[in-house]
Amino acid sequence: MSEAQERAWAELSPRYVIESPRAIASTSVRPGSAVDPASVWGRTAPLVVEIGSGQGHAIVHAAASRPDTDFLAIEVFKAGLARTMLDADKAGARNLRLVEANAPEVLEHLLPEASVTELWVFFPDPWHKKKHTKRRLVTDGFARLAARALVDGGMLRLATDWEDYALQMREVLRAADDFEAAFEGDWAPRFDGRVLTAFERKGARVGREIRDLAYRRRRRP
Ligand SMILES: C[S@@+](CC[C@H](N)C(=O)[O-])C[C@H]1O[C@@H](n2cnc3c(N)ncnc32)[C@H](O)[C@@H]1O
Repeated sequence: MSEAQERAWAELSPRYVIESPRAIASTSVRPGSAVDPASVWGRTAPLVVEIGSGQGHAIVHAAASRPDTDFLAIEVFKAGLARTMLDADKAGARNLRLVEANAPEVLEHLLPEASVTELWVFFPDPWHKKKHTKRRLVTDGFARLAARALVDGGMLRLATDWEDYALQMREVLRAADDFEAAFEGDWAPRFDGRVLTAFERKGARVGREIRDLAYRRRRRP
């Protein structure tokens, strides 16, 4: 991290970062370490979770414009989290928390079952080489963990600029009994809660297609 990012971490992490008990790896989450959202945020409110929040553009913008909702950014890239805190602080977003951890483990061990209102996965690493696609985040196992964390009727929103991954996401979610598509046709309309980043604007200019998907978590039996 840069010096400014180190400073941001030292100054702002006590306010923003949820410390996760670790298993073995430094970004793991120890089983049995679920947090209580009401005591983390100091209130009971809808909770939106973003996986792989990067520099935090989407979640800081959303948190600042929706003060009645709580937000959690999950990211393994520490410098991105430092940037996110700096921007959140500047925007006065007090309803945002961050966790530096591997997202599937956060869904499984840190968040209580049925605690998340919306789960966002925007532009996850595409792992486009054939020998690497097994590293992709959105798999059958991920769909089970997402369903565990989401409330009944909660939304899973995804976006990618990688066609092959978009097809994989759609296939995974089509096969997941806990979810139903919340769109008609091939793809969901662009999610207007996602801030338009330079990346997306540039992609549109060079004709790169961005595909959105949206799924509703079915009611538990
Ligand atoms: C391609 S970037 C996209 C960042 C951001 N969503 C955006 O649209 O600009 C993917 C991000 O996911 C993070 N990431 C990848 N695997 C992760 C995991 N298992 N848990 C948490 N974050 C992860 C990476 O560190 C990276 O910042």
